[in-house]
Amino acid sequence: MPTKMNRRIILRAHPNGVPRESDFAADEAPIPEPSEGQFLTRNLFLSIDAGFRQWMNEGAGDGYLQAMALGEPVMGLVLGEVAASHHPQYRVGDLVMGRTRWEEWSLADGSDYLAPVERAAGIDLSHHLGAIGPTGLTAYFGLRDIGRPQAGETVVVSTAAGAVGMIASQIAKIRGCRVVGLTSTEAKCRWLVDHLGLDAAIEYREPGVLAAGLDRHCPNGIDVYFDNVGGRVLEAALARLAMGARVVMCGALASYEGGDPVPGPTNLFKLVTQRATMRGFMVTDYVSEYPAAVAELAGWIASGQLHPVERMLDGIEQTPRAFCEMFRGVNLGKLVVRLDAARGAA
Ligand SMILES: NC(=O)c1ccc[n+]([C@@H]2O[C@H](COP(=O)([O-])OP(=O)(O)OC[C@H]3O[C@@H](n4cnc5c(N)ncnc54)[C@H](OP(=O)(O)O)[C@@H]3O)[C@@H](O)[C@H]2O)c1
Repeated sequence: MPTKMNRRIILRAHPNGVPRESDFAADEAPIPEPSEGQFLTRNLFLSIDAGFRQWMNEGAGDGYLQAMALGEPVMGLVLGEVAASHHPQYRVGDLVMGRTRWEEWSLADGSDYLAPVERAAGIDLSHHLGAIGPTGLTAYFGLRDIGRPQAGETVVVSTAAGAVGMIASQIAKIRGCRVVGLTSTEAKCRWLVDHLGLDAAIEYREPGVLAAGLDRHCPNGIDVYFDNVGGRVLEAALARLAMGARVVMCGALASYEGGDPVPGPTNLFKLVTQRATMRGFMVTDYVSEYPAAVAELAGWIASGQLHPVERMLDGIEQTPRAFCEMFRGVNLGKLVVRLDAARGAA
């Protein structure tokens, strides 16, 4: 059993609006020992996910997850290796990916593990948290089952330069669609078109710019809207739905920051006149289908059709900065923190 301490990042304060690094703090605790039915993971990578922000708010618990407690390690997805086990299904050396905490060592009993990780040949291990992990799979299943994009259709993706959005955008391109991405800055718009190959990109922050951009780039309306944001961006997309459109309800970033409720769309009647559908989903609904989906995503990466863009920071102490930067829109693609244990192992 290892003798050093478990370095962790705890929630120091409930963030007020955009999270700040001072909302988090580093601490250390003894490395836990698994008892019967438990196992210990030595974590290699932490996944930085916008969705967890909402459970940092005071009293934010819901039917899906509990609110995060002050003074406790922050909940998050990790990719790790089983280091000790008293669990019949997890052997020492197995790679696993699941929801534990921002920490170097995690105690688990298998209940919060999304999937064992079967390492894909020729693909960086960290992409099992990104393009071929939960974020890529979210884009994959949301589009496959709800968006159902057909060649020639117009697909609009919000947070198109982020982890889920950049994969959704690229899959829609692979399906032969015209893809329009929404993001916060001109530089990110240029990146979406020049680097990811989208047909157009629009800055969404100014309502007038968003409306004019959607009118210009979606002259026949929007067939699929992949929504990561909600609020008035969703309203602008609904206003331009084509007949029979599908709206993929993936996330609602605009409302994760707590405080006053974000006004919802006032034009839901558009769904009626356009015979449109709008449906939410959780990627965890699809666990049994992960292996086949990972194989297809990995195949697209191998053939050069899908670019698994990733920004990696080194060391657990970088985790608060990585998370906060995400809410300032600094990131392009997937954000991952590489832990000391992964250096030389990945
Ligand atoms: N349904 C599921 O199972 C599932 C699973 C995973 C993730 N998700 C959802 O997918 C979405 C994207 O998550 P991600 O982890 O891939 O994050 P991400 O897109 O990599 O990062 C978040 C991005 O959102 C934008 N943003 C930040 N604050 C915003 C705000 N207040 N309003 C609008 N946009 C804001 C920023 O991009 P810009 O610079 O472009 O503004 C930022 O880069 C989230 O809504 C998340 O909840 C859903």
